[in-house]
Amino acid sequence: MSILVTGGAGYIGSHTCLELLNVGYEIVVIDNLSNSKLEALKRIFELTKKDFKFYQADLLDKMTLEQVFLENNIEAVIHFAGLKSVGESIEIPLHYYHNNITGTLVLCQTMRKYGVKKMVFSSSANVYGIPKNVPVTEDSPLKPTNPYGRTKLMIEEILSDLYISDNNWSIALLRYFNPIGAHESGRIGEDPNDIPNNLIPYINQVAIGIRDKLSVFGKDYDTHDGTGVRDYIHVVDLAKGHLKALEMIIPTTGIDAFNLGTGTGYSVLELIKSYENATSKKIPYTFTHRRPGDVDKSYADITKSNKMLGWKALKSLEDMCYDSWRWQKNNPNGYNEKKEKN
Ligand code: NAD
Ligand code: WQD
Repeated sequence: MSILVTGGAGYIGSHTCLELLNVGYEIVVIDNLSNSKLEALKRIFELTKKDFKFYQADLLDKMTLEQVFLENNIEAVIHFAGLKSVGESIEIPLHYYHNNITGTLVLCQTMRKYGVKKMVFSSSANVYGIPKNVPVTEDSPLKPTNPYGRTKLMIEEILSDLYISDNNWSIALLRYFNPIGAHESGRIGEDPNDIPNNLIPYINQVAIGIRDKLSVFGKDYDTHDGTGVRDYIHVVDLAKGHLKALEMIIPTTGIDAFNLGTGTGYSVLELIKSYENATSKKIPYTFTHRRPGDVDKSYADITKSNKMLGWKALKSLEDMCYDSWRWQKNNPNGYNEKKEKN
């Protein structure tokens, strides 16, 4: 029996594939490589010495998806494949709705056809929108403020309806907070295509000298130092959360949502300090205006995932920063041989 990993060549998917293989799961990966590189999969093999099947295909391609289920004995699916940029989703919403939602519909239809009814789904803390209270619990109001977040909420609702229609499904909706860091080998990590939108990839590029300085978006937020507070979680801890979710859904049925974060919020300035401490690199920055749509603070209540998944994030903020830096230092051009400065 195999676990099908959609989007397995991506940032979180690649780290999860590695953990799955390391504990003995057989996996099959499907990815259209729209936001990832084949090299990530080669490195998973290099690190684990375990072979796995890869289909370079789009989830929207029904025929190939059918082939995947026909050719393999799939037990459960971890569904990472999706587009994830908030800003881009505002510019090209139809593309986001089509890719993320239609892709999931095609996947679910195919799963149902082949009697596979177990799924771990990559949702996002983005579904909470502007949190009324922190820490954010899973039963907080769901009010995403952008098309990307709405695709995640709509998929959560589709999956809930699917379960209502057929109680044999077993689904874990994992709401990630802010995944950062990289595998300790320094061989796999986050490799953004363009100018990074997210904080750590940008800091990495400042540290390596690709960019001159970081812009800190806003210094007048309602937080202890005026900069935005987030719940950063090490991608390896996050990957391990998927294994716990899988262990939970395989022998049961039902649908439930879980926050995956550390439960602690850090400000942008605290993150910069921690990165500097961990790496001995100076990160020059200036304050600029707030980024539209950003919230003051967002961090997870992790009581439910601790209790029900038996999972807890273990790595510290300094671990996250150091591991991010090691990946960047060892791979200045990401998975590319050479990358031009944008
Ligand atoms: P990523 O872009 O690195 O990985 C997603 C992968 O899916 C990529 O390899 C991409 O090529 C593939 N893909 C996209 N659309 C596809 C399609 N139609 N068919 C086949 N493959 C397709 O992103 P990530 O950071 O690894 O995120 C994984 C999942 O977790 C995404 O669904 C994302 O929305 C969600 N998520 C990410 C974060 C984050 O900050 N990274 C936070 C919360 C949730
Ligand atoms: C973190 C903090 C910024 C860049 C996003 C998505 C979310 C999830 C994770 C997918 C904020 C500040 C950032 C910079 C800065 N992804 N910042 N200068 O916005 O919390 O979450 O990624 O599901 O849905 O919205 O993460 O890393 O962009 O920002 O000052 O150059 O860093 O204002 O306070 P965010 P981020």
